[in-house]
Amino acid sequence: MLKTNTLAALVFLVLVGALWGCSGNSVEVPVEPVQVEVADTELSYRNEPLMDASFAPQAAFDSEDPGEAKLLARSFENAPPQIPHNVEDLLPITIADNSCLDCHLPENAEDADATPTPASHLYDIRRDKQLTSLNPANFNCTQCHANPADVGDLVANTFEPYFRTSEAEEKSNLLDILNDGVE
Ligand code: HEC
Ligand code: HEC
Repeated sequence: MLKTNTLAALVFLVLVGALWGCSGNSVEVPVEPVQVEVADTELSYRNEPLMDASFAPQAAFDSEDPGEAKLLARSFENAPPQIPHNVEDLLPITIADNSCLDCHLPENAEDADATPTPASHLYDIRRDKQLTSLNPANFNCTQCHANPADVGDLVANTFEPYFRTSEAEEKSNLLDILNDGVE
C-alpha cells in the first residue's frame, strides 16, 4: 500500500516537473548591476563641482533704486514678478529685519507707490483661512521674487507666455482663480 502511494507521488512529481518545463519557465541567472561612477562635476548643466557655490555665475543687479525702476514684464500669468529695483541694503531678510514689508505690505504700498502684496500672501491656502496679516510662509520674499540677471541660457528655450486677459500681464490674482478647472 505504502509503495503504491510512493509510486503515485513520484509519477505526480514527474508530471508536474514536465509541465513546469513545458511552460517555458527558465532558471533566472542573476545579472550583475552595471556600476558607472559619475563625478559630481558631471551632474549639473554647468558641469562644475556641485558642492562648491563659488562656481555659480555672479549675477549683476545694477538696477535703479526702489521708486526709480521700471516694472518688468511678467514671465507668465501669475508668475511671481521679478524685483525691478536694486536690493542694496535690503538683504539678507532676517526675522528681525525685512524692509520689503515697509513698502509692499498693503497698508504701506500706497505711500511707497509700490505694488501691494497680493491677496494670496494674506491667506493660508493650506488651511483655507483668511489671515489679517502676511502669511509667515510668504515672509522670505526673495525665495520666490528675484532680481533679473544676465547669465545666459543654459538650455535653449522657446517658451512664450499666454495671458488670458491683458490685466493679467501686470497684476496677479492667484487666490481668485486657484480653483479654476477643479470644480
Ligand atoms: C523703499 C520702498 C521699497 C522697498 C524697501 C522695497 N521695494 Fe519693491 N518696489 C518698490 C517700488 C516703488 C516698486 C515699483 C517699481 C519702482 O518704482 O522702483 C517696487 C517693485 C517691486 C516688485 C515688482 C512688482 C510688480 O508689480 O512687478 C517686486 C516683486 C518687489 N518690488 C519686491 C521687493 C522685495 C522682495 C523687496 C525686499 C528685498 C522690496 N521690493 C523692497 C518699493 C520698495
Ligand atoms: C512662496 C513664494 C512667494 C513668496 C515667499 C513671496 N511671494 Fe510674492 N508672489 C508670489 C507669486 C506666485 C505671485 C503671483 C501670484 C499671486 O500670488 O497672486 C506673487 C505676487 C507678488 C506681487 C504682485 C502683486 C500683484 O498685484 O500683481 C508682489 C508685489 C509680491 N508678490 C510681493 C512679495 C513680497 C514683498 C514678499 C515678501 C514679504 C513676497 N511677495 C513673498 C510668490 C511669493
